[in-house]
Amino acid sequence: MTFFPPATLYRARIMHTPADPFGDASALQTQEDAGLLVQGGVIRASGPFDGMRAGFPVADVVDLRGGNGVLLPGFVDTHVHYPQVRIIGGLGLPLLEWLDRVALPEEARLADTGYARSVAREFLSGLAQAGTTTALVFGSHFAGAMDVFFQEARRSGLRTVAGQVVSDRLLRPELHTTPDLAYAGGKALIERWHGVGRSLYAVTPRFSLSASEGLLDACAALTREFPDVRFTSHLNENPREIQSVRELFPQARDYLDTYDRAGLLSRRAVLAHNVHPTERELGVMAAHRCAAAHCPCSNSALGSGLFPLRRHLTAGVPVALGTDVGAGTGFSLLKEGLQAAFMQGLLGPEGVNLTPAHLLYLATRAGAEALDLGDLTGDFRVGHQFDAVLLRPLSGSALETVLTHAPDPERALAALFSLGTSADVAQVWVGGDVVHERSATDVRSAP
Ligand code: GUN
Ligand code: ZN
Repeated sequence: MTFFPPATLYRARIMHTPADPFGDASALQTQEDAGLLVQGGVIRASGPFDGMRAGFPVADVVDLRGGNGVLLPGFVDTHVHYPQVRIIGGLGLPLLEWLDRVALPEEARLADTGYARSVAREFLSGLAQAGTTTALVFGSHFAGAMDVFFQEARRSGLRTVAGQVVSDRLLRPELHTTPDLAYAGGKALIERWHGVGRSLYAVTPRFSLSASEGLLDACAALTREFPDVRFTSHLNENPREIQSVRELFPQARDYLDTYDRAGLLSRRAVLAHNVHPTERELGVMAAHRCAAAHCPCSNSALGSGLFPLRRHLTAGVPVALGTDVGAGTGFSLLKEGLQAAFMQGLLGPEGVNLTPAHLLYLATRAGAEALDLGDLTGDFRVGHQFDAVLLRPLSGSALETVLTHAPDPERALAALFSLGTSADVAQVWVGGDVVHERSATDVRSAP
């Protein structure tokens, strides 16, 4: 006897970007009254609701249309630091001073596994509340803190790609390891967690400033031995950081070359920031299909600079959005999209005019591609997992007003990016499982 799991027909106003709007002006697909048939967590069929109802008369219907609800693919955060959730908002310092005074003292506290577990829970609930269903997570320097992270990630139901962060110089001694320990610890974590539940592993040297050539070689040994793990690090964020890397690696052609010489670049690599790249670096990233995680709120908060999106696109480097919590100012990919658009505007003729379709793509499908998960998530195509976020504005809010009067779907999507916050996230699904639901007590009326 064949067993068919029960099917659910989700009825909703949907918007998604199955194609790339940087190459295809009609990439944004919207349907006012769509039906998505979900079975076993996978989207099996889709189309206008009436036709879907007729085709699948026994499926349970879940109607998500009330209160100006819009169903989007779950957001994909391609760069976010789990140990930094409690230090969001340390504004006013450039990168290296911020690391020294704000980030690293907090990261040292994760040596205590109980502390790390509380932080992991806060972090994962921050992601889910923001509508993020998949994240490439910069982990902790401590293996124990990574074990509790993966345990909590499994409980949360979110898709996470994460790894132990390794460094062997120039941070603080308690955060340092050695190449041998980095290799052995990484291997043990990969064997324990890669592919378990919805988690994957990412080999994660912090940045070349805090990594010797030997440590990068140890990281590359892991990616050779386990070719489907991801690799992530930081790149070209701040001029003083770049100058230090130049002095520490006199034999390297540039910052990217420190990773390339170790053999760490591939289409499973994501490098955060890249605010100050050379043309050569962009060419090498494009050749490897290695993605840049653009984190506009962090770039603003640390004064890192204006991301040269046009140069990335021209060179053919894949770009997606990241929040970079805790230098970044929160978990919302809606806010990152809006900030990205503002910062491109500040670049004048060098900037890219980002439409709502671009913002949605950068916050969803582009992230899925960057993580090499494009066959699994990122849009509502048939065969993809049902990873979704229902945005339903708080009653009486400006967002509700604007959505009610928006003349077309693009303007409605622009309103979501302009006014939407985590408070507007009503429900979130990963693989058909509800991973967050706004409770009645979350919706407090103004006094
Ligand atoms: N470079 C090295 N570590 C970090 C970090 O924690 N945050 C940011 N934004 N850049 C880094
Ligand atoms: Zn970062």
